[in-house]
Amino acid sequence: MKKLNIAIIGLGNIGSHLFDYLSDNKKFLTEKNNCIPIVKYVSAKNKKKKRKIKIKKDQWLSNYLDSTKLKDVDLIIELIGGAEGPAKKLVFQALKNKKHVVTANKALIAKYGDQLAKIAEKNRVNLEFEASVCGGVPIIRSLKEGLIANKISKIYGIFNGTSNYILSTMDKQNKSFNEVLSDATKLGYAETNPTADLNGDDVSSKLKILSSLCFNSFLNNKIYVEGIKDIDKADINNANTLGYKIKLLGFAELLNKKIYQRVHPTLIKKDSYVASIDGVLNAVIVDGTPVGQSTIQGEGAGPAATTSALISDISSILRGNIKFPFSLSNKERKKLKFSDISNRSFSAYLRFEVIDKPGVLSNITNIFSKNKVSIKRLVQNPDKNKRSSSIIIITHNSKDKYLKKILKIVAKKNYVKRKPKLIRIDDN
Ligand SMILES: NC(=O)c1ccc[n+]([C@@H]2O[C@H](COP(=O)([O-])OP(=O)(O)OC[C@H]3O[C@@H](n4cnc5c(N)ncnc54)[C@H](OP(=O)(O)O)[C@@H]3O)[C@@H](O)[C@H]2O)c1
Repeated sequence: MKKLNIAIIGLGNIGSHLFDYLSDNKKFLTEKNNCIPIVKYVSAKNKKKKRKIKIKKDQWLSNYLDSTKLKDVDLIIELIGGAEGPAKKLVFQALKNKKHVVTANKALIAKYGDQLAKIAEKNRVNLEFEASVCGGVPIIRSLKEGLIANKISKIYGIFNGTSNYILSTMDKQNKSFNEVLSDATKLGYAETNPTADLNGDDVSSKLKILSSLCFNSFLNNKIYVEGIKDIDKADINNANTLGYKIKLLGFAELLNKKIYQRVHPTLIKKDSYVASIDGVLNAVIVDGTPVGQSTIQGEGAGPAATTSALISDISSILRGNIKFPFSLSNKERKKLKFSDISNRSFSAYLRFEVIDKPGVLSNITNIFSKNKVSIKRLVQNPDKNKRSSSIIIITHNSKDKYLKKILKIVAKKNYVKRKPKLIRIDDN
């Protein structure tokens, strides 16, 4: 029976769970893959740290980089995290030294994936990263294998569990952003530093990886990114009244031979499938020919779901399945045209908090017509006590640059009480 010697580097939330899974399921994995997975070495930052897992003395590597040089290591599993520093050093060195690599590190793959894939291809080793996108949702393997027949025109969905939990809980429990964020931190859904979850960066990394797999292109940094920090209860309530829910969505789409990548809070119809995905769940929707629309949903993070994805990658290597990391050879990957969204048209929700006095509404609607944006629906909610009014406008499809321009012009008016809002609508 063949054997595969593994080094797990990083024994935090994910690494320690994977370690346990591999020791508990060695027989099962051997039977499924016709090869024995052996965890030969492990390493992390601090040897003295108390851990729940049982590490044998001769398993620990004092210097994690030794895993890249040892002859009795075939596969290195990088579970340190971060685009730079030790994770980057480890993965580059491992591939250069002809070791297979499995990683859950979206930041690293989104930034250095092209360079890493080139080395992996040259040295005929695997670089697998299923766990880097949407945890337990097997979207990467689906794109590379199950959906290989398809020309993909669009991929979109909910790629961040923390922000989805925050938005859906604000809606269901009628709580403020900060109240829900604090609950999420206590429950372990949000990290101590949730910046990348809230400002859209986490989704941005995942979307870059997915879009490059869908469109056979190199990774591209032209991406519009906006997080959920500015969404408040009033927006959630307004969305409900208008028949929508607000979700943080990522989109990569091919329109007229150009690719648009965008991440932003989005109003979607209340009765749509995506609107029903609540809590920490992720959902990915792919539009392709001939398949039509295909959807996968599941746990987007956490040790159990992430281990499921890691095992899928490890099994692929156990079976000797050497593949190009981004599905096709570096030479065949394309340099496609990526466009910013300024000329892409959207229907949008705009909200203006203004002083309640005559002439304000007509001034705002004039600005809309001067900037070629037609209004589909307008709701005005005056608050007599505060002498203020909330004006909500739903537009017809208009170029993003005109919507943004209106926002900028109105923001400067002296009747405006707070920064105006723009949330794009997805009516599909
Ligand atoms: N958590 C999730 O739900 C989730 C989901 C999908 C993907 N991921 C990805 O999985 C990876 C690991 O995440 P995690 O949540 O397990 O992180 P974590 O709990 O912070 O664990 C990080 C591990 O890396 C080790 N480490 C840090 N610096 C090191 C260094 N210089 N040399 C060697 N080891 C070092 C740490 O060592 P010590 O233990 O000694 O401190 C720790 O064991 C990340 O790329 C993350 O984005 C996580």
